[in-house]
Amino acid sequence: MSVIDFYDELAPEYHLIYEDWNIAIDHQGVAIDRLIRSRLPDAQSVLDCSCGIGTQALGLASRGYKVLGTDVSERALDRARLEAIHRGLDIAFMACDLRELETLQGTYDVVISCDNALPHLLTDDDVAQALRAMYSKLLPGGLAVITVRDYDKELVERPVTAAPRVNPGPPRKVVVRLHDWDSPDGPMYTVHFLILTEGSTGWSISHHSARYRAIGREAMTLAAAKAGFTNIRWHQAEDIGFYQPAMTALPGWRVGLSGANPLFPAPRLEQSDSLSRRMNADSTSARLNRQRDSPSARVVATRLTR
Ligand SMILES: C[S@@+](CC[C@H](N)C(=O)[O-])C[C@H]1O[C@@H](n2cnc3c(N)ncnc32)[C@H](O)[C@@H]1O
Repeated sequence: MSVIDFYDELAPEYHLIYEDWNIAIDHQGVAIDRLIRSRLPDAQSVLDCSCGIGTQALGLASRGYKVLGTDVSERALDRARLEAIHRGLDIAFMACDLRELETLQGTYDVVISCDNALPHLLTDDDVAQALRAMYSKLLPGGLAVITVRDYDKELVERPVTAAPRVNPGPPRKVVVRLHDWDSPDGPMYTVHFLILTEGSTGWSISHHSARYRAIGREAMTLAAAKAGFTNIRWHQAEDIGFYQPAMTALPGWRVGLSGANPLFPAPRLEQSDSLSRRMNADSTSARLNRQRDSPSARVVATRLTR
């Protein structure tokens, strides 16, 4: 089953993986907003490049961000559109593979990919392409946020299932998840979602499966650095109030702009008080336009480390 088929099929029931999806939207919006603000206080625009049915896109839009949500699953996008309308939120959605974000117009303060989308990419080349594509959509001084399962732990523990999620309905539904690891020491595994639905004559079952490739923090960090990111930080789930660890990263000097080698990012300089005051007085877009246009763009971009 392809990733697109998996999420197309799951779209009407994807919320069942949460005890209460509306509460999850709110909690995740709070957590990701706080994480974004901790590194980029003036952020306004967000590209959610694996938005699915919109858990984070809805939560962030309701906190005032201007959001574009993209995904490969058209049915997930259709549902996300309806959910946004239902909540009175103005969010744009469109289909795009996150490896091909360059085909989209515009650049953003923040590009996010939350809840384990990148591990659907099964080769180093695909992950590298996705990270480069995310980088390409960031304004200078922007921020990338990626959340994935805690694979440093899971590659050791190799969990074969997660606790079943019981939804009271009616009809009552139970979501069971199985992880079939290809081998005890490899990164590849298949996830099976079994959704049991109670009916008048008994229980029926639907089955959906997808392939994943676990990627630990070190491998993700190296891939992000190769894509040109700098100031790469990992945030523990419990520290940020999210249910997965998150990686945040800033775009380094762009090769085209500075000629610098993205594998060797510029050194981190602290922001001076006067620069900080000036930046706080400016709007994000004015600041970013000035950085882009200024002959001293490289210096300012370097000072923008948070
Ligand atoms: C676990 S879901 C999370 C969705 C959303 N972030 C949420 O939490 O509701 C992962 C999403 O990644 C999307 N995805 C997987 N591979 C993708 C790709 N190559 N390009 C864009 N989206 C992709 C899937 O379609 C799915 O919607």
